[in-house]
Amino acid sequence: MTRHFLQDDDLSPAEQAEVLDLAIELKAKPYAARPFEGPKTVALIFDKTSTRTRVSFAVGVADLGGVPLIIDSQTSQLGKKESVADTARVLERQVAAIVWRTYAHAGLEEMAANTTVPVINSLSDDYHPCQILADLLTIKEHKGALAGKTFAYLGDASNNMANSYLIGCATAGMHVRIAGPAGYQPAAGVVARATAIAAETGGSVEVFTDPKLAIAGADAVATDTWVSMGQEAESAQRIADFAGYTIDADLMALAAADAIFLHCLPAYRGFEVSAEVIDGPQSVIWDEAENRLHAQKALMVWLAERA
Ligand code: CP
Repeated sequence: MTRHFLQDDDLSPAEQAEVLDLAIELKAKPYAARPFEGPKTVALIFDKTSTRTRVSFAVGVADLGGVPLIIDSQTSQLGKKESVADTARVLERQVAAIVWRTYAHAGLEEMAANTTVPVINSLSDDYHPCQILADLLTIKEHKGALAGKTFAYLGDASNNMANSYLIGCATAGMHVRIAGPAGYQPAAGVVARATAIAAETGGSVEVFTDPKLAIAGADAVATDTWVSMGQEAESAQRIADFAGYTIDADLMALAAADAIFLHCLPAYRGFEVSAEVIDGPQSVIWDEAENRLHAQKALMVWLAERA
């Protein structure tokens, strides 16, 4: 049966660890795996703008011996003149995998249900699981291990990044702390799923409204923009609602002395993070951005050859 990667727990704890170990191998030997030799083509569909995801998937497919076909959904029939299901059936006859950045998560589920090739979520309204694989790889590189480490995310705790951190970090056996103001808390169902996973992996899950409680003693600290794609009209209200959540030097000082700072980017200095922190010595954001490439290559190899 074809395996897909639509949300973080589509990989079991053992499978996630296998993908991350493979990412470390491929980072050292970038052309060691060739699942798309032929070359086979991989469809990369974008309903939203992107820099890191577009570049890292395009370079990654090429490194794996394949051809990346970038499809701008604005100039395709998808979702306008043709259903997701029919598009899936057309694509599976010609491509080896489908990578899709979209809005509603249900669209990805419909794509996966109607195709025999792996579908990868490169961001939906609910999850950003490829980003979390890159973040876990980065934490592993800098901290040596994931299980038992404390990870704190401060900001919009109701968004796709928070959901993926909850599920993905719990899968890795980490102690996950998520902090957001009232009205920006994670859905109860996501917290329950993460808590159940953590009970199996030895991790834990805590949700806060006080950012200082969440960050205290953390090994890795992350945030995300307060205004995600499509929320621009709410910008002023959101900036007011997130007062006190800027990760500045004072807040970062509450984390472990050797804590690292992560941000999926793009970042807005002076809002969710100060320039002093994101451009400072604890920031690992450029490793994190590079690791999109290595983590996604490992995921594609795993789905193509090992699933
Ligand atoms: N972090 C991330 O997904 O970046 P892009 O939006 O540039 O792809």
